[in-house]
Amino acid sequence: MEEILEKIDRSRIPKHVAIIMDGNGRWAKNLLLPRTAGHKKGVDAVEEVLEAASILGVEALTLYAFSTENWKRPTEEVSYIFKLPKLFYTRLIDKLMLWNIKIKWIGEITKLPNTMQKLIADFESKTEKNTGLLLYLAFNYGARSEITATVKKISQAVLDGELAISEIDEAFFGTQLYTGENVNVDFLIRTSGELRMSNFLLWQIAYSELYFTDKLWPDFSKNDFYHAIFDYQQRNIRKGGL
Ligand code: FPP
Repeated sequence: MEEILEKIDRSRIPKHVAIIMDGNGRWAKNLLLPRTAGHKKGVDAVEEVLEAASILGVEALTLYAFSTENWKRPTEEVSYIFKLPKLFYTRLIDKLMLWNIKIKWIGEITKLPNTMQKLIADFESKTEKNTGLLLYLAFNYGARSEITATVKKISQAVLDGELAISEIDEAFFGTQLYTGENVNVDFLIRTSGELRMSNFLLWQIAYSELYFTDKLWPDFSKNDFYHAIFDYQQRNIRKGGL
């Protein structure tokens, strides 16, 4: 672990990293466990990555925990995933405070059960004053839904006379998305070998470097995160320039 950490150039850490945490179900299946065991173990991997990202000084990290399409899963699995935020809170709140992590939830939060909305509010207020890593937890999130909600919000501002159409440009639109000022994702990681975007941060990834690994999410460790960042640093990033 130390070796790879020493190879990382601390002056070129991606500012905003996003992760599609995939493979919990397969991890559990490989061990003949119920799929829910994979989701539970997935929380350990979240802890690993939060520590690693904090150590490296990543500014923002967006994690895809539950998509607007995940409602199609069996009710028992959805109910279990809905218990994870509480588990995450109970297990990790002390560490989140220690690591100075601020949490924001992104997605169709108002469509979540009231108890969950209350938990989200608690999370956000408790970590509000933290100044380290900003963690965006995408829960009931879909990029098309986010873009549609943003169009509606901007249209309402125009109708209310608060905004002129001439003020709407790419830069402005970007800041109105859930990710606010952190609109550009520099580096996107997807675990489990799948090569898809799955409706995640479609506007924000316009110029992201992409990284796919066969590791299943519950097996993803600090060391794997460091390897991914090292890989990112070997790339020639031009963003359309030369
Ligand atoms: C994808 O694996 C994973 C999910 C849909 C759930 C992600 C949740 C966590 C990693 C836990 C962290 C949660 C919080 C709130 C911090 P999959 O079930 O699609 O795996 P499969 O493709 O192998 O079936």
